[in-house]
Amino acid sequence: MNAKINTISPVPGTARLRELDLAHHLPAQQNYRLMQTLGGSRIITRADGCYIHDADGNKILDGMAGLWCVNVGYGRTELAEVAREQLLQLPFYNTFFRTATVPAVQLATKIAGLTGGDLQHVFFSSSGSEANDTAFRMVRHYWDLRGEPKRKIFISRWNAYHGSTVAAASLGGMKHMHAQGDLPIPGIEHIMQPYKFGDGFAESEEAFAARAADALEQRIRELGPERVAAFIGEPVQGAGGVIIPSREYWQRVGAICKKYGVLLVADEVICGFGRLGRWFGHQYFGLQPDLVTMAKGLSSGYLPISATVVSHEIIELLRAKDSEFFHGYTYSGHPTCAAVALRNIEIMEREGLVQRTAEVTGPYFQQALQRLRTHDIVGEVRSLGLIGAVEVVRQRGTNLRFGDKEGTAGPVVRDRCIANGLMVRAVRDAIVICPPLIITEAEIDQLVGILDKSLTEAAAALR
Ligand SMILES: Cc1ncc(COP(=O)(O)O)c(C=O)c1O
Repeated sequence: MNAKINTISPVPGTARLRELDLAHHLPAQQNYRLMQTLGGSRIITRADGCYIHDADGNKILDGMAGLWCVNVGYGRTELAEVAREQLLQLPFYNTFFRTATVPAVQLATKIAGLTGGDLQHVFFSSSGSEANDTAFRMVRHYWDLRGEPKRKIFISRWNAYHGSTVAAASLGGMKHMHAQGDLPIPGIEHIMQPYKFGDGFAESEEAFAARAADALEQRIRELGPERVAAFIGEPVQGAGGVIIPSREYWQRVGAICKKYGVLLVADEVICGFGRLGRWFGHQYFGLQPDLVTMAKGLSSGYLPISATVVSHEIIELLRAKDSEFFHGYTYSGHPTCAAVALRNIEIMEREGLVQRTAEVTGPYFQQALQRLRTHDIVGEVRSLGLIGAVEVVRQRGTNLRFGDKEGTAGPVVRDRCIANGLMVRAVRDAIVICPPLIITEAEIDQLVGILDKSLTEAAAALR
């Protein structure tokens, strides 16, 4: 082998890396001016279990599982080995030429087994955004073939997050994203989110659930059911601030969709693969969606892969109408990504991570987080499985925010957490937490201990 091929450029020092990052690398969802002012990125160099390490020598407990995805934790040799074997056997082949690969077929079969029931057909992509774009196009195509071409409208919720591509950002309900690039695209409507702490503080759980769900029925009637194609929702809204609705809410939404013949799309990009203590969030809420999108935990983020699972009824219609679905990505069913995802699911099964989340770590996490309610600046603590949020407020027992606008206090608490060795994210004033599913009880205690300390420090800084 040519010796030069083995020559890897030396890694520059940390300060130089930061300069090069600012000069050439555009990180996701950033204000590039602010990045300059703050002196650039934290360079993450390695990770193991539930911990990440940065180039400045800090060891940080990863309270975000990367970006809601590293469910089996870092440093899994087995996943590296399976990727290596697949790269040598067949690194890539497409699915455009009436061709398939062994891992793609095996993974589709595995996923269909986990979703069960009528959800038997799997279309692969590389990201959650693409999985949702696929659902969007598949649903519109389906209604066309059904002879109801007017059924085009998707109903979603304000503050939902479905991705960053044009269709996915439009489906999402992030107003700041819509403000750039004339979004949403036509045919997408948004209704209220089931955010009781923010939008129904004084209401009873039941009354709020009914009001939030009935907003869907009201919009369907306003638009005319014959124009509504689907409702899309995350079982628990993640990036919107870990909004956890009640079962009643979802039951009612499911019933409304059925009543008007509107398809239900469950975006399981965060909730899928054990996060709520079931394989999928819709299973926890007792829902029967027509399409399910998933990514992140599917491969625990080791390689990029996502899927759109489609009901048998939809695919049967495409078959009956002899219709080609003009949609696909070069990397649909990428064999190396699929092989890693398959092994990732096998690890989850072998280690019982879903059940452990439901029965052991989820309840422990919930109890441990409750300790934070004694803080003067904590308005609510909520969690389900291994996802949760702490609402930072001006006064305990209220939902009054610090400062003139929302989002003043959250970043202060977040920055204290990171300085104290815990990676979390602030969504406005909610500190959101989503650790790897392998987290131990001792690590949960450490996580909550750092939150506790950081809230005390932030309270002093904010007063
Ligand atoms: C619920 C949900 N859907 C879709 C996406 C988009 O996934 P991706 O960033 O892989 O495109 C995300 C990303 O955070 C998400 O949380």
